[in-house]
Amino acid sequence: MRLLLAPMEGVVDSLLRDVLTGVGGIDQCVTEFMRVTTLLQPDHVLYRYCPELHMNSKTRAGTPIFFQILGGHSEPMAANAVRAQELGAAGIDINFGCPAKTVNRHDGGAALLKSPERIFNIVKAVRDAVDKNTPVTAKIRLGFDDPSQCLENAAAAEEAGAHWLTVHARTKTDGYRPPAHWEWLPRIREKIKIPVIANGEVWTVSDYHRCREVSGCDDVMIGRGAISNPLLFKQIRNNSQEFDSKQNWAEIKQLLPGFFRAAEIEKSGHFAQSRCKQWLKGLGLKHPEAEELFQQLKVITVPAEFKTQLEHLL
Ligand SMILES: Cc1cc2nc3c(=O)[nH]c(=O)nc-3n(C[C@H](O)[C@H](O)[C@H](O)COP(=O)(O)O)c2cc1C
Repeated sequence: MRLLLAPMEGVVDSLLRDVLTGVGGIDQCVTEFMRVTTLLQPDHVLYRYCPELHMNSKTRAGTPIFFQILGGHSEPMAANAVRAQELGAAGIDINFGCPAKTVNRHDGGAALLKSPERIFNIVKAVRDAVDKNTPVTAKIRLGFDDPSQCLENAAAAEEAGAHWLTVHARTKTDGYRPPAHWEWLPRIREKIKIPVIANGEVWTVSDYHRCREVSGCDDVMIGRGAISNPLLFKQIRNNSQEFDSKQNWAEIKQLLPGFFRAAEIEKSGHFAQSRCKQWLKGLGLKHPEAEELFQQLKVITVPAEFKTQLEHLL
């Protein structure tokens, strides 16, 4: 049974990976997607997506990170994957699920769910190009607009040599509207032999158990649930049943000043301020204390003042 932290563009960067894997309970991370068009990206871009390449592709807590790429053309996808592997990526994950209009217009992400043969070609090109000891994995949605597309797409990914398949159990058309249709996952598992990782709408320990029961999957990937409750992975491991928001908040709030400081050192005070506001908003989904703090801090525009107030109000 493995627990994976979902890739989230603009949210789960190296700073948040560091904090969340530091809390514990996470077996595996995936970077935000790096868009691949026709070119080989320069090394500094790869390091920007995954600064942990400098640390053997692991977070400080020792959690391995796979490098995610997104694009519609096999050759540059393979070339960029090889470069990521040469720089030390623990694995390469290929994104076939991004619903963003700009991405889909440029022939990447969920647009490819309409053509299993293109999924096959891209996964195979990447698989053939990177070192055979480096896992190549794929992440799909159930389909573009028809969930039954997942069966052919899963088979294509497996046949092309994917090491495992993560399935966000919704179509592109579903967007992020609940529910996630975990009931499709047993049908995928019947069709392929590689591990299937269940993803979508796991917010609590009981969601996790229901997801495993319905999907039959041992491995689960969690995104927004982890942003709103960074202790969720630990609670799943301890099989905690009760969700005590007050007690949770007392532990979580201690993560915020360190997160601010790390973001400030990494980029700037303004960056740190906006990342903290973003995370507080996410935490507010499960913790009224975070929402209250967000309301107090959101009007502040000067980072030094924000930092002082954050520390004062916690
Ligand atoms: C803001 C945001 C950014 C995302 N970025 C990525 C990404 O870069 N790569 C990817 O494969 N999925 C991305 N996703 C999808 C998530 O990895 C995940 O599949 C989805 O949120 C469902 O899981 P959840 O219900 O646990 O959040 C993103 C989702 C959100 C909300």
